[in-house]
Amino acid sequence: MGRHVVILGVQWGDEGKGKIVDLLTDRADGVVRFQGGHNAGHTLVIEGQKTVLHLVPSGILRPNIHCYIGNGVVVAPDALLAEINQLEAAGIDVTSRLHLSAGCPVVLPFHSALDQAREVKRGGQAIGTTGRGIGPAYEDKVARRGLRLGDLLRANLCAERLDVLGEYHNFMLTSYYDAAPVDVGALKENVIEWAEALGPMIGDVAGALGAKVTEGQSFLFEGAQGALLDIDHGTYPFVTSSNTGAGNASVGSGVGPAIFDTVLGIVKAYTTRVGNGPFPTELFDDVGARLADKGQEFGATTGRPRRCGWFDAVSVRRACRLNGINSLCVTKLDVLDGLDEIKICHAYRIDGEEIENSLMDAAALEAVEPVYESVPGWHESTVGHREVAALPGAARSYLERLSELVGVPIDIVSTGPGRDETIVRRHPLKG
Ligand code: IMP
Repeated sequence: MGRHVVILGVQWGDEGKGKIVDLLTDRADGVVRFQGGHNAGHTLVIEGQKTVLHLVPSGILRPNIHCYIGNGVVVAPDALLAEINQLEAAGIDVTSRLHLSAGCPVVLPFHSALDQAREVKRGGQAIGTTGRGIGPAYEDKVARRGLRLGDLLRANLCAERLDVLGEYHNFMLTSYYDAAPVDVGALKENVIEWAEALGPMIGDVAGALGAKVTEGQSFLFEGAQGALLDIDHGTYPFVTSSNTGAGNASVGSGVGPAIFDTVLGIVKAYTTRVGNGPFPTELFDDVGARLADKGQEFGATTGRPRRCGWFDAVSVRRACRLNGINSLCVTKLDVLDGLDEIKICHAYRIDGEEIENSLMDAAALEAVEPVYESVPGWHESTVGHREVAALPGAARSYLERLSELVGVPIDIVSTGPGRDETIVRRHPLKG
């Protein structure tokens, strides 16, 4: 029997999921993306060489691993082709190992134009999206007017659908947002090129996964963004437009929910957020600046600086419960090296009362004040450590306290960006 693991970010994204997916793929047959799009940025460093992936699953750097983009992912064909070309130019065979679901909604130029025009119109209330058109592409899916990857292979249907989309979205762009229209004629030509280039990879991903699961293969389901950006359970409306949670690993790829053995949550040893919205433990002082600098906290997709703060055990505990997380991985522990004191938010205070579980929407979070406990820091370096026993005592105590507060065992600790700079206490694919 194969084993199946869902890997999720438990904060606001950028927890270092890509590295962990790549690491754990040593015991998997395939990696599946099930939500989000090229708003994601997954950074991998292997033998000092850095690769940033946006759409292609993080297993691609391991030979023989098959990578699947499930129906829950919105796919921008031009971005995907650019990524494939870049990987192939680096000598990595992608096209024979990448499988795209015919059900993936296509991200079109209308969507990025609308995303950007809306952000301008929102002014001070902007969400701080990546501007990649992710929200509008999901809107077209739900409105049942979108184009899906499988449609690219039906030239007439595709052209008809683009005419309808062009009429609708160009009206919005020009008449409501005062923005430039998209050239539908040029788009139709692009679509023919996309169909040719991507056609051989488009197929029935749900069917293929079902068969391989039955055969006994093992899969990693790679989440993008993070639990606090979930469209339903996150800091709405400052969220992304998909369900980032474990349930979507099933819906967004077409496998039954009973197959998963482990839901592995990835958290940073502190907290970061890119984009706008509430962030109770955000730091505006030297410590925040130090975390940003030492952690190189710049968005992998947009290059924007990330906001930094202390670990928020209240939101992580809630996200772990919501997603059935039963194993935790803590990343970037080394970024905390050299601090005299480290704070952990263990409760929120609302109207003078301490609470340990709160709704996460923006209005609720704006009203809370973090309640901190303080633990001693450590001055030794933890960079590259591969055994818990080798960590300074204060670092071990910090990890134990996080695990206790969140209620989930810590099975993996990342101590640097490289594949080898990791402590693996329990490998979720080891039976
Ligand atoms: P969108 O997903 O581009 O619509 O952006 C919505 C929110 O999600 C913004 O706050 C983005 O900064 C954030 N976001 C989207 N993708 C990522 C990611 O991969 N990492 C971190 N934040 C993200």
